[in-house]
Amino acid sequence: MTATDRVPRGRVTVELDDIQATVLRYRPEPYYGTHVMLHVENARTGREFLRDLAPHVDSAADWWQAREPWMAVALTYTGLAALGVPEESLRSFPDAFRAGMAARAPELRDSGVNDPDHWEPEFGSGAIHLAVSVFSDAEEKWRRTMDTARRHYEGRPGLKVVVTQDFGAQPGDLNPLGYRDSIGQPAIEGSGVEPLPGQAPAIKSGEFILGYPGEAGVPLPAPVPDVLGRNGTYVGLRKYQSRVGAFNRFLRAHAETEDERELLAAKLVGRWRSGAPLTLAPDKDDPELGADPVRNNDFTYATDPEGRQVPLGSHMRRMNPRDTEMAVLADVNIHRIIRRSTAFGAPYDPDALSPADDETPRGLYFIFLSAKAMATMEFLQQEWINNGNFMSLGEERDPNVGLQKAAATFTIPRAPVRRRIHEIETFNVLRGGEYFFLPSLSALRWLGEEH
Ligand code: HEM
Repeated sequence: MTATDRVPRGRVTVELDDIQATVLRYRPEPYYGTHVMLHVENARTGREFLRDLAPHVDSAADWWQAREPWMAVALTYTGLAALGVPEESLRSFPDAFRAGMAARAPELRDSGVNDPDHWEPEFGSGAIHLAVSVFSDAEEKWRRTMDTARRHYEGRPGLKVVVTQDFGAQPGDLNPLGYRDSIGQPAIEGSGVEPLPGQAPAIKSGEFILGYPGEAGVPLPAPVPDVLGRNGTYVGLRKYQSRVGAFNRFLRAHAETEDERELLAAKLVGRWRSGAPLTLAPDKDDPELGADPVRNNDFTYATDPEGRQVPLGSHMRRMNPRDTEMAVLADVNIHRIIRRSTAFGAPYDPDALSPADDETPRGLYFIFLSAKAMATMEFLQQEWINNGNFMSLGEERDPNVGLQKAAATFTIPRAPVRRRIHEIETFNVLRGGEYFFLPSLSALRWLGEEH
């Protein structure tokens, strides 16, 4: 049973049949798929390709049908320019999107091992113009949908494939560090997707979809003309290589038994690897709870203000502090993101311990959607990932995606004295990233025309 199967359907105030399915459709369980990234050498060919592909791109009208495979299409700023989008429209996109993720490295705190200088060469070079992604819950349906996509781009002069990345759930639906993920998602008002227990309050749709009022009561700035901006959104994509050897070595160095290692792994994230939240299962894993979308988000941090169950610095509590009292005030509701991340490469291996295991191709395409994805990403990277002040944790950084300095620490509050673990390393290293615009279906058709 997937989360989507359990979500009650409610009142719809957004134009579902014009919004891409990926915005509202949960990632299936299990999942299979491919990201194909293309370079447009010739504007006319690029537009023809979009025109031909547009009828195959799914809308969110039947967002609960995760049993059907679907296709999504997104464009970078250099992609929009390569298609010949008029200057006035290009200028109407936000500065961070126009600059691209690599150029925003200082704002994203992407330095050291995460610096764009160390990225795979396709990323951050302006070469990636278009991304086509296929998602499916079954291998056969995925291959069939990929055949359709491939028929449209393969052998088309003026269109070059720069990245092809197959992805998919690993055994037990686990990510490359061995956790279930994509559990905590925001509920979107007016999308027809009713909040599951623990997801409330529903966030105003304009925070996620352009053209509707956001939390401030007005729509966020959108690109012009209206047909291009309305019902679109932005996507941040970050390709992480998971250093599984370093992660396992860390667990073994700081926990003696298998049970202690699992507890430490849970403290780093805030959930057991099964997905069961520590708030509801503080001492012992509860895989049934972890797999139950109706129960596995149904908690607050009200009974755990000091983080004795879920450390204040754990990944999940940093990324969504819920009702935690923060030292640096921020409105949690305006920093929420929709996540559609995809795991690639070898499955998690608990016995992988060598430095060579850190380089085995394996990791996450962390993918998130929001109508202000660039600003949110930059805020999260600066304030909640690579800084600890908002939780009074000083220099401490996110144990999962923080860029760790030498002798970095992770604090586990407990009575009578907290435990401070030293020598936490950077477990997920950034190997590339791009900001994309995910247009509405009518915008896709508009982009297929010459203007
Ligand atoms: C390789 C990189 C990453 C891994 C392996 C990872 C893993 C996880 C896991 C295991 C969870 C808990 C289960 C869940 O709710 O999905 C989680 C939650 C979450 N992560 Fe990540 N994550 C990664 C990167 C990021 C980044 C870069 C961000 C934000 C910029 C982020 C934002 C979140 C959010 C918002 C939640 C949900 C929190 C909640 O609603 O309670 N993650 N992640």
